[in-house]
Amino acid sequence: MCGIVGYIGKKTAQDVLLNGLKRLEYRGYDSAGIATLDDEEQPHIARSVGKIAELEKVVAKEPQTGHLGIGHTRWATHGGVTEANAHPHHVGNIWMVHNGIIENYKELKAELKDVEFKSDTDTEVLAAFIDKNFAKGTSLKDAVAKAVKKVRGTYGIAVFSPLEPGKIVVARLGSPLIIGVGKDETIIASDASALLGYTREAVYLNDGELAVCSDDNVDVYNLNLKHLSTNTETIEGDLAQIQKGGYDHFLLKEIMEQATTLHNTLSGRIDPKNGTMHLGGPNLTTKEMKDLRHIVIVGCGTAYYAGLLASYYMEQLIPDITTEVVIASEYRYRSFHLPEHTVALIVSQSGETADTLACLREIKKRGAKTLGVVNVVGSTIAREVDGGTYVHAGPEISVASTKAFTAQVVAMLMFAGMIAEVHGGNKSLISQFTQELAILPKEIEKTLNEHHDTMKKLAKKYAKYDDALYLGRDTAYPIALEGALKLKEVSYLHAEGYASGELKHGPIALVDDTFFEVFDILDNWLFEKSIGGLHEVRARGGHALVLTDAVDKEIDADDVVRINTPIKQLVPILLNTLQQLLAYYVAVERGNDVDQPRNLAKSVTVE
Ligand code: F6R
Repeated sequence: MCGIVGYIGKKTAQDVLLNGLKRLEYRGYDSAGIATLDDEEQPHIARSVGKIAELEKVVAKEPQTGHLGIGHTRWATHGGVTEANAHPHHVGNIWMVHNGIIENYKELKAELKDVEFKSDTDTEVLAAFIDKNFAKGTSLKDAVAKAVKKVRGTYGIAVFSPLEPGKIVVARLGSPLIIGVGKDETIIASDASALLGYTREAVYLNDGELAVCSDDNVDVYNLNLKHLSTNTETIEGDLAQIQKGGYDHFLLKEIMEQATTLHNTLSGRIDPKNGTMHLGGPNLTTKEMKDLRHIVIVGCGTAYYAGLLASYYMEQLIPDITTEVVIASEYRYRSFHLPEHTVALIVSQSGETADTLACLREIKKRGAKTLGVVNVVGSTIAREVDGGTYVHAGPEISVASTKAFTAQVVAMLMFAGMIAEVHGGNKSLISQFTQELAILPKEIEKTLNEHHDTMKKLAKKYAKYDDALYLGRDTAYPIALEGALKLKEVSYLHAEGYASGELKHGPIALVDDTFFEVFDILDNWLFEKSIGGLHEVRARGGHALVLTDAVDKEIDADDVVRINTPIKQLVPILLNTLQQLLAYYVAVERGNDVDQPRNLAKSVTVE
């Protein structure tokens, strides 16, 4: 979604802003812009529709020389994708960029009858309010505080004015802002990846705070303008993690590096010798773990599917606990009841997803303990939960989530293993899962390497279809859902995931020879039943691609990809990596923008 960068220092602001905006490209956007203040205190603005490369062309015609500026990538919410709607917005003496949504912008606009608006955005309305306050002779800081107090909705803003040069005022409510503190320079960003390479020290702004930034100082206030003490925190990650490292796309890099990232997820958390798992972060006492009776897992999209798969494992490991998995955008508005001794797992790669965050707050209100299963360190969800675990998948740049899924499932499995231990669960099962986790990185690497070329070849063939069904049973069901999601996101093919047992209850009506079906089939006690569905589809002219760990069983399908692995319980994770490759190569075959698929944003910070 939208991204913000700001800079004050000795460097040419335009270069830092454009570089920062490129780092934020992965979040998804449709237009971009920068505004700077030159050394004669003259503002300059450049905006364009489309990619940053288009903005660079505009800037190249009239380079901006100043050392202070703000930049933005916009993902349209209010108003179409036009240059006029792109940020920064300029009203009177105010230049401003904004992430989030001002829900009451129409009401606010009605109070500003004398302003001639140049865009359809909610942002320009807020800029006009700040300008109105500023014109009354208050400081820029006071004008911002007064204006944002009127806002209903969410915002992360960065504002400058030629009347107060050398300063950028930022404020946040529900939309992240990080202030990087460098040597004689300050870099502001909505995402830590824009700060890498400049500084490792940063102030994370909290909701309801604003900050006045100069090249050598950051002063943080609450909205009543009480000065607050600030702590700098260290930003994790390095530049190599946000570069493609020789791959054509981030998506392929992130699929292929899963063995390595999983090592980080597992590091220090499993003990294969004793067959146990342990997570440090949940902050639960032994009594709280013992008393635990109900786990609710909350997420959106891929994070939800990761939760669904984890719930199957939880039911095996901790049968005395009820596990429920919910879609955040639904749950937040339901009249849900949480029994005593509930723990909520809040699953989010970005840690910023608006619906997931809203659920976290609703659950907290009902008194249940919340634990984050989060990738981005320092993100809003990570900061608001009572405890939790970072999944340590490293920066996920491609919009479609891959390595985070694997890490989320594994992190939740380790949580279940730890609880199972306290609940006196089945020791040999806990140990089996632990042993499988220990070899999972190696098995993922082997699977990806052995079947890479095959999946690429199959993608060429299946890229010609327009419709696909993904089918799976038991623990293969959540990955059927995830496989279909991945394919539709990056290839734009119509794809649906179903539980194999549901085939006869509707979806089979779709099957003819214009469809292809991906069957995720596990070599377990449900094998024969899964094969039944395959026969039914084949009998109706469907084209079946089977992904399976059954190495020596006869399977009648158009294509069969067999994984030879000692792993049993965690096979769905391996099959899913094949689905990831399939989706990637189908998208490449169809000539799509693989890393930034149309209409999608990496972190969905609005409802
Ligand atoms: C799928 C995908 C989305 C996200 C969803 C949740 O590839 O990227 O479905 O999984 O938007 O995002 P997070 O995990 O950041 O809360």
